[in-house]
Amino acid sequence: MENGFEAEDRIITSSFIQEDGDIEISLRPRVLTEYIGQEKVKENLSIFIEAAKKRNESLDHVLLYGPPGLGKTTLAGIIANEMGVNIRITSGPAIEKTGDLAALLTNLAEGDVLFIDEIHRLSRSVEEVLYPAMEDSAIDIIIGKGPSARSIRLDLPNFTLIGATTRAGQLSAPLRDRFGVIFRLELYTPEELAEIVKRSAGILDIEVNGKGCVEIAGRSRGTPRIANRLLKRARDFAQVIGDGTISHQSAKTALDRMEIDHLGLDSIDRLILTSMIKNYRGGPVGLETIAAAIGEEAITIEDVYEPYLMQVGFISRTPRGRMVTPAAYKHVGLPMDSQQRLDV
Ligand code: ADE
Repeated sequence: MENGFEAEDRIITSSFIQEDGDIEISLRPRVLTEYIGQEKVKENLSIFIEAAKKRNESLDHVLLYGPPGLGKTTLAGIIANEMGVNIRITSGPAIEKTGDLAALLTNLAEGDVLFIDEIHRLSRSVEEVLYPAMEDSAIDIIIGKGPSARSIRLDLPNFTLIGATTRAGQLSAPLRDRFGVIFRLELYTPEELAEIVKRSAGILDIEVNGKGCVEIAGRSRGTPRIANRLLKRARDFAQVIGDGTISHQSAKTALDRMEIDHLGLDSIDRLILTSMIKNYRGGPVGLETIAAAIGEEAITIEDVYEPYLMQVGFISRTPRGRMVTPAAYKHVGLPMDSQQRLDV
């Protein structure tokens, strides 16, 4: 990292960081009606759950995709809870060998949910064990080595695989095709986030007024995980330099001090925009080039920074690369002809 600042260090990173662990679990809604936002997903999901329960079947395999921090794990927990089954949680990189997956699968009970986060990171050989498991509720185990090796088929209970990924495009076609239900999670609206902040404050016993919620929500880049984290930091400021209640003003002070601007952009977001403007005339410029210019990984820019910069209309994608929009020039305070001026 050339800028000496890791994406994980940002207060507004949407990646899961250690301190999220305990609070995120206590804040997690347990039933669909408690889950705020993602209305289309909820509507369809409730029908699929009800139908499966009526038929006494396990739910079809579900793929959840979208930017990090939007509640994919939470949703998987809700699905298991609503279906009245257990959930086993693992992730693509944690399943190193085919035997690891076989052990997980053979320990499931009838109807259980197996949740695999970052499912795009499963190795090809592990993925191949999943195919018959998803399709026929069975796995093929090779016994022995060399010429005497033979394969036996082991029946599994019916189960629901819930896969989560930030990058659906990286999933192999055979794996993607085996999911009966595919949901894309969207960034949350400021109104939905304000409701989430209010709910979280209630659970955590944090005093916050309506305008305080709105201020935090507006700077959480569409992501509940960030909203909940900013809520905790705003409480610190309110308790130390205020009267303990997060008001509009104390939330504003807290967020300003953390250098999160009124749209939720931090210094790295602004660096991406200014570097595109100053070095590449605002684009079009390739992702790898932007990444090299600011010393960040291309994949991090694509997964973590770009979705929100696109959502607020600051970056557009064209066939020739990324472009900065006029609104972004205005936001970072650079004139549209700044490149020409830098040239002279
Ligand atoms: N906490 C995090 N995400 C949430 C959501 N979508 N609804 C309610 N509480 C949440």
